[in-house]
Amino acid sequence: MRATYKTFFVFYVLISNVFVNALEPISTTFVFGLGVAAVGRKLYNYVYDERCNSKWIAFNSTGLEVALDQKLFGQHVASRVIQKAVTGFMNNKNPKKPLVLSLHGWSGTGKNLVSQLIAENVYKEGMASSFVHQLDFTRHFPHRGQLENYKVKQSQLQQWVKGNVTNCPRSMFIFDEMEKMIPGLIDCIKPYLDYYEYLDGVSYRQAIFIFLSNAGIENFAQVALEFWKAGRDREEIQLHDLEPDLSLSLFNNKKSGLWHSSLIEKNLVDFFVPFLPLEYRHVLLCGMAEMSAKGLEPNQDVVDKMARDLLYFPKSEKIFSVKGCKTIGSKLDYFT
Ligand SMILES: Nc1ncnc2c1ncn2[C@@H]1O[C@H](COP(=O)(O)OP(=O)(O)OP(=O)(O)O)[C@@H](O)[C@H]1O
Ligand SMILES: [Mg+2]
Repeated sequence: MRATYKTFFVFYVLISNVFVNALEPISTTFVFGLGVAAVGRKLYNYVYDERCNSKWIAFNSTGLEVALDQKLFGQHVASRVIQKAVTGFMNNKNPKKPLVLSLHGWSGTGKNLVSQLIAENVYKEGMASSFVHQLDFTRHFPHRGQLENYKVKQSQLQQWVKGNVTNCPRSMFIFDEMEKMIPGLIDCIKPYLDYYEYLDGVSYRQAIFIFLSNAGIENFAQVALEFWKAGRDREEIQLHDLEPDLSLSLFNNKKSGLWHSSLIEKNLVDFFVPFLPLEYRHVLLCGMAEMSAKGLEPNQDVVDKMARDLLYFPKSEKIFSVKGCKTIGSKLDYFT
């Protein structure tokens, strides 16, 4: 209880006032009231302010499994990898490096949703936790004037990670829209993702880094389409069907955020997680879930109308939703 001495000192001074001003009952009552309020507020903050401890940060493995199973549709590969990767890491008392995940998929296929489900099952406050940090490159690191600002941005990014991990080792960083990142910039955080025990007295081994991107996904739709054409179950698609060249294609793609990146070269990304493009039936599931979330009675007809109104690719077969489940919230408003 950091504030104890200070609190008691303030309280002592205020209590003394009661005696000193014994003949002024109105002001003493007022001052005494203020003292009680101040102590009350400290106590309230102590109980309710989020802290970097097991009361606020506790991994719920079953919770994550159930959430992935019930809230994430059509992503059996990603779901399995995430569950194993996060559970393995969180149950390891002495990890040798932080967990680094790179999530890849079309727009609206569940990358941010998965980050949210992880956060909700690690931090009591979920995405609202002060230990979960999301970086949007378009907003925080726009390409404008990149050359003269490159060093400044590197240093800002390093300070951002270092400061937050110093504050709480079990911090989570979400790097959204990696494909919009200035090529090479991400390499400045390489030391923090590496196998060091301490760097300048700080250990990064408890932290979780999640990269989200639309890069390297061309092959996923092709594979899913081939399974569909062959009449094979989508759930038969395995990680190795999708991932074998993913890291290489990201490494060679200037717009992936990981172009010629030492994070790939030095194998510091633990898992590349592919998200499949979503089909009509998954959009229906998203629609039903969205109606429930909006407090409406799920209605198959309404959801069906909404799903038929979306665009699908490839042009000839029209199997996969172009925007995944992304715009269905607003679309549903239109159809209800
Ligand atoms: N596979 C899914 N299962 C259930 N809901 C989904 C799925 N994919 C997307 N959604 C829903 O669609 C919305 C957008 O999803 P999300 O933000 O996770 O997409 P994304 O993959 O991050 O897309 P982008 O690349 O455009 O950022 C969210 O409301 C999410 O709940
Ligand atoms: Mg997203």
